[in-house]
Amino acid sequence: MIVLRGITKRFPGVVANDHVDLDIRAGEVHVLLGENGAGKSTLIGMLSGLIQPDEGEIRVGDVPVRISSPKRALQLGIGTVFQHSMLVPTLTVAENLSLGAPWWKLQAAGEIARRFEALCTDFGVRIDPNAVTGELSLGERQQVEIFRALLRGSRILVLDEATSMLTPQGVAELGGLMQGLARRSMAVVLITHKLREAFEFGDRITVLRQGLKVAELGPERLRDEDEHTLHGEVVHAMFGGIGGGMATVRGVVKGPPVLVVRGLVVEGATVSFEVAAGEILGVAGIDGNGQKQLAEVLAGQHRVAGGEILLGERSITGLDVGSRRRLGLRYVTDDRLGEGTVGSFPVSTNLVLKEIGRRPFWKWGIERSAEIRRHARDLIARFDVRTPGPDTPVGRLSGGNIQKVVLARELFGGARVVIHNKPTHGLDVLNTTSAWRRIGEAAAAGMATILISTDLDEILELADRIAVMSRGRIVGIVANDGDARSRIGEMMAEVAA
Ligand SMILES: Nc1ncnc2c1ncn2[C@@H]1O[C@H](COP(=O)(O)OP(=O)(O)OP(=O)(O)O)[C@@H](O)[C@H]1O
Ligand SMILES: [Mg+2]
Repeated sequence: MIVLRGITKRFPGVVANDHVDLDIRAGEVHVLLGENGAGKSTLIGMLSGLIQPDEGEIRVGDVPVRISSPKRALQLGIGTVFQHSMLVPTLTVAENLSLGAPWWKLQAAGEIARRFEALCTDFGVRIDPNAVTGELSLGERQQVEIFRALLRGSRILVLDEATSMLTPQGVAELGGLMQGLARRSMAVVLITHKLREAFEFGDRITVLRQGLKVAELGPERLRDEDEHTLHGEVVHAMFGGIGGGMATVRGVVKGPPVLVVRGLVVEGATVSFEVAAGEILGVAGIDGNGQKQLAEVLAGQHRVAGGEILLGERSITGLDVGSRRRLGLRYVTDDRLGEGTVGSFPVSTNLVLKEIGRRPFWKWGIERSAEIRRHARDLIARFDVRTPGPDTPVGRLSGGNIQKVVLARELFGGARVVIHNKPTHGLDVLNTTSAWRRIGEAAAAGMATILISTDLDEILELADRIAVMSRGRIVGIVANDGDARSRIGEMMAEVAA
């Protein structure tokens, strides 16, 4: 359906795609793999009409084309779901669905909503077409984007990390959907960091590394060869054979409670728990059950409607975000581009975003840019942020590297309690391991940590105790011992019943 030949794209200081060849075939789910910054989003940006190649040729149905705009891409039947939401948060779902596609204007809004609802029913998703998009969870927003592309009749669906926000069940459903599309002779291009998904859903796997295509595994090999061999080959292609290795630092002596939460009102329910120095409390649950609200209430983004929060001995219930932060309470948001960073600001500024006007980065109201850049260089090195330099706008970095900027900022300087919301979302296998190691090391150094994640494997890897959240309530807290997985599963099932 689409042939890419010798595609090259250069940005200042980096060759993002270096003479890449790619064939997108009808009836195939084609998975793109590669470490953070390998050039995956850039490559599909050229399919979506967002970026123009410097060199090379794109052919659609054997005709050379210039995909000059997203609109042109849509005309060619290429629908894209980007890594970061492209929906307008202030509009309803139905309104978002009618944006940018002129022929929709002829259809009644009710008709759009109806077709959307039919799709939702098909895939077992419950999203109200009249809901304001900004009030949906990130996972739900991503689902809306997938359905939008389908509603526009795309024959080639390009998904940039579309699965990363979904629950395991949602991923399985999306996998079924992708395979269904392939059976109907459409094509799917999927970018993911989860090798399991690549092998489960992929008919073909292409690996990029530093802009170069370094491996392609076709359907025959994926079908016939054993997974262990294929897995080894893919990891070797991605990282040059550097092993992942386990991340955690265990055997930490737990101190006294640092964070005490009593009867805190979250989404109309109340939660109570404590986190000790050196302890990692995992918060498991299906996306959208109040985890984000809990994090935001703790961070001070909402006024406390009831209950109490103590940091050390001190009540912080009435304090604002800045005061809580200065006392050592940090929040690593899952919305790294929306609230975590300012895309047009340099990496260096983003690393001091919450210290603006404060020493040592400002003095007498004057910005000390040498100090800010020195600080940035230090964190860039320590957190292995892949950026041309501290002055590059953060929005130009690859998704995984933006995440590292947010992590670096929040873990740095006087943190006592850190709340992580999906900290490794969008990170490749190696960066995930190093983020886990950092979280483990911070805990070992006495940090109290709350780890919110929909990835149960991540929680089981890191947490000392695990709380299960449902509809704003903590339905149980269990120690992370041998049978935690099954007990958590039982709790989730009971709640769902
Ligand atoms: N608009 C841009 N301006 C400058 N550099 C860019 C721009 N877009 C991408 N880059 C750079 O090109 C390289 C490839 O980035 P890309 O976003 O394609 O990576 P990726 O494989 O999608 O990574 P991730 O898994 O982290 O999302 C990176 O070094 C990135 O910083
Ligand atoms: Mg990307």
